[in-house]
Amino acid sequence: MEKILITGGAGYVGSHITLNILKRGLKVIVLDSFVNSSKDVFNNFCKVIDKKILKRNFKIITGDIRNKKLLNDIFEDNAKTECAISSVIHCAGLKSVQTSIINPKEYWDVNVLGTMNLVDIMESYSCKKIIFSSSATVYDPSVGDILDENSRISPINPYGSTKFVVEKFLEDIHKSSKNEWKCINLRYFNPIGADPEGIIGESPLKEKNNIFPLIMDVASKKLEKFTIFGNDWDSSDGTCVRDYIHIDDLAESHIKALEYLNNNTPVFMNLNVGTGEGTSVLELIKKFEETNQISIPFIYGERRKGDFGTVVADNRLAKKVLGWIPKKDLKDMCKDGWNWFSNKNI
Ligand code: NAD
Ligand code: UD1
Repeated sequence: MEKILITGGAGYVGSHITLNILKRGLKVIVLDSFVNSSKDVFNNFCKVIDKKILKRNFKIITGDIRNKKLLNDIFEDNAKTECAISSVIHCAGLKSVQTSIINPKEYWDVNVLGTMNLVDIMESYSCKKIIFSSSATVYDPSVGDILDENSRISPINPYGSTKFVVEKFLEDIHKSSKNEWKCINLRYFNPIGADPEGIIGESPLKEKNNIFPLIMDVASKKLEKFTIFGNDWDSSDGTCVRDYIHIDDLAESHIKALEYLNNNTPVFMNLNVGTGEGTSVLELIKKFEETNQISIPFIYGERRKGDFGTVVADNRLAKKVLGWIPKKDLKDMCKDGWNWFSNKNI
């Protein structure tokens, strides 16, 4: 049976992948330091997965990917069992653009050094399949509105730089290993929403910067107003356009990527994970209001430093290679996100 190590498996993206993989009956080990998540995220798993299966197939380990001894122990302990770790989905990392500018060393340490440790230990246990959580932030969005995998790469902040160098590192490892390594970098666009059954959602411990958790804070009256960063962008209503993707569709892309790695010869690939549809900030607010019948008061503020007008994925390669199709629309994202958040917070 497959056993998958999911680093950062308690975080927003990682927890949705973990739930999806466990639902398919595979074994999962989550390694997380819980710097931006809590163990409580797993409390509701037993509502949708049999307790006995959970006990048999799921293990949570608290620790840091920079701790090589711990990583070694995890691989060694599992190598001794009938089921060694066969693949890694590597979500652990720091993701705030703003903090990365203030403290780049921490970002390089966790995101880059942490990955180098992981790959080193994986190699010593002949575990050579990895799916890495990369980001659309590696691209230079000034080259065009729709970005494909060959669009110009030019990260403009330390967070983006760490994502790009990890991608390159994995490419070098793949090439140097006589092509033994199988690596897929999934470049996420803007995941939002929550698990459709309301079991988990997005609950960051650190400061919220991303749009959807902030909209939900306004919806629940924790925040008085939402600030739209600029209304003078080159778009139909002047607000920024992004490619929002349902977190469940994003999680599904990892399952498809895993199947692909299992069924194909060694490969290195970068794949965009988005819907290919652009939505403006104003359109997202309106859709949220209409779907959930809640008003979101907002004001227009200054443009945010480092923002771009339009960032949308050309997702044809991921669809073609993985046979993956994003199934959910903006309404589902607004409905499922709010369903989870309101049950938890109100
Ligand atoms: P998140 O902060 O919710 O999850 C990251 C998890 O990693 C957290 O549970 C955190 O506690 C853990 N972690 C952090 N440092 C660690 C360390 N040193 N050792 C072990 N665990 C550690 O973030 P997320 O939104 O789930 O993002 C997951 C990955 O996807 C990140 O690498 C992020 O850069 C990438 N990504 C996210 C988005 C997005 O919009 N959410 C977009 C593009 C890329
Ligand atoms: C941001 C990061 C990106 C990172 C991603 C996931 C920047 C410039 N980019 O992407 O590198 O991979 O998060 O962590 O920080 N918005 C508002 N008001 C708000 C918040 C956001 O109007 O209070 C707008 C933004 O201008 C943007 C859109 O909402 O147009 C989405 O913002 P956000 O959720 O932060 O994602 P990105 O900026 O696309």
